[in-house]
Parts: sequence; structure tokens; C-alpha cells
Amino acid sequence: MLLLCYCGTARRGEPVFAPVPLADQEIARGEVVYMNYCHKCHPGGEAGLGPAINDKPLPGFMIKLQVRNGLGVMPAFKEEVIPDEELDDMVAYLKALRKAKEEE
Ligand code: HEC
Repeated sequence: MLLLCYCGTARRGEPVFAPVPLADQEIARGEVVYMNYCHKCHPGGEAGLGPAINDKPLPGFMIKLQVRNGLGVMPAFKEEVIPDEELDDMVAYLKALRKAKEEE
């Protein structure tokens, strides 16, 4: 499922790298972002001060909207704090968390 966003064009003559490790890197980077900013209220995606976010099919754009704007007790995280590409990585991480939870 995580490979769905692999729409980059592979140019001829260049070595083609396996997409799986690349996706893993994205998730690994996203995990760092998550640990820094989200984990304390949504520990491991479970409910804490905030609700669980690993148990519902929230689309990526909804997660981003929530992060950028905040809601209630949840603070907003602007681009200066979490740049767009880090937010993308974090969404990939959250989707991986959710998938792991579904397979439990
Ligand atoms: C200070 C604690 C806190 C931090 C830090 C925090 N959240 Fe939240 N989060 C909350 C609370 C509280 C809510 C519920 C808001 C409401 O509905 O009033 C929430 C709601 C959410 C929701 C919506 C869940 C739903 O059921 O619709 C998402 C998605 C979410 N947070 C993601 C994140 C992400 C990603 C981060 C890190 C960038 C983060 N949160 C950081 C407290 C926090």
C-alpha cells in the first residue's frame, strides 16, 4: 500500500533502486517527526491527552489540516516547525502505524 505514491519516473540508464527501502526511509524520517511533536499526546498513535489516531481511516490531507491548524487542546504546527516534506513523511509513518494496527 505504501508504494502507491511511487509515481516518479525512472530515467533510462540510471540504476533503478528498489522502492521498498526508499519508502522505509520516508517512514523512518516520519517517525522522528512524530516522536518529536505528536507522541506525547498520541503515544504510539494510541489515545493519550489526544484521541487515538491509528484506528480510523483519516486521509492524509485531514491529518495535515489538523496538524497545520490545530483543534481544541491540540496546538497548530506551522511550516516553520514541521516543513511540508517532513509532514509528508509523518503521514507515511502514521499510515504505516495504522496498517500495523489493522494487521494485529
Ligand atoms: C498537546 C497535545 C497534542 C499534541 C502535541 C498533538 N495532538 Fe493531535 N490531538 C490532540 C487533541 C486533544 C485532539 C482532539 C482535538 C479535538 O477534537 O478537540 C487531537 C486530535 C488529533 C487528530 C484528529 C483525530 C480525530 O479523531 O479526528 C489528529 C489526526 C491528530 N491529532 C494528529 C496529531 C499529529 C500528527 C500531531 C503531531 C504533529 C499531534 N496530533 C500533536 C492533542 C495533541
